[in-house]
Amino acid sequence: MFSHDTVERNATLLLLLAFGVVTIGGLVEIAPLFYLQNTIEKVEGMRPYSPLELAGRNIYVREGCYTCHSQMIRPFRDEVERYGHYSLAAESMYDHPFQWGSKRTGPDLARVGGRYSDEWQRNHLADPRSVVPESVMPSYPFLYNKSAENPAIADHLKTLAVLGVPYSQEQIDNAATDLVAQAKPDDANAAAVATRYPKAQVRDFDGNPETVSEMDALIAYLQMLGTLVDFKAYDAQANLR
Ligand code: HEC
Repeated sequence: MFSHDTVERNATLLLLLAFGVVTIGGLVEIAPLFYLQNTIEKVEGMRPYSPLELAGRNIYVREGCYTCHSQMIRPFRDEVERYGHYSLAAESMYDHPFQWGSKRTGPDLARVGGRYSDEWQRNHLADPRSVVPESVMPSYPFLYNKSAENPAIADHLKTLAVLGVPYSQEQIDNAATDLVAQAKPDDANAAAVATRYPKAQVRDFDGNPETVSEMDALIAYLQMLGTLVDFKAYDAQANLR
């Protein structure tokens, strides 16, 4: 229609044509999203955080762990070999705010759950250099002394429910007692926690069964990371697609 020569010598025409090209490109990318109900692939096993895990996550955010740790494994061979299956969108769909991070002074933590014992985790958090002599991670020994019990946790669940996290009324009503019970396996409500939150790990995380400390909460959160989705089932299904 136009020769290159004409377009290159006429700035207005060049701008109009460029605008047209960008508009078409933009529409092709954006329009399908209006017809999709959801861009997040459904994955078996994802559930909202238990109250104790959520309390731990709040400590993670408060202490700025995300400034040194990412929670996003990219689909590159070196990352997958080191950290495990690449992260799925569904794995952070209940995260408000998400913890993908943008800096890795320390390793990615998206699948750190179950990699170390609780004892290793608490020694490491209280004094990282006691287990990794060359570590530059700060120490967080005060987590032992601060209680994680928090009657306001129910309000946090309610707030997340407003943002679309599917907490049931039962989960909200029992939040404060569930928080305590998850770190006290002998508690009368301990069994109920595991029913309300499948795969929730119910045990004393900080080595002191008397109290529920911030150390309990943070370790409960770390030990859950990456353990909810069964990737054997996910990959088997993906191979069929
Ligand atoms: C100044 C940066 C920095 C901050 C802040 C930081 N870390 Fe680390 N973290 C590191 C480094 C470096 C390592 C690797 C050496 C080591 O294991 O201590 C590490 C290692 C870890 C590991 C072991 C991971 C693995 O796969 O070996 C965990 C778990 C961890 N950090 C949790 C936390 C948590 C929870 C917080 C917040 C309370 C935190 N970190 C804050 C730098 C940091």
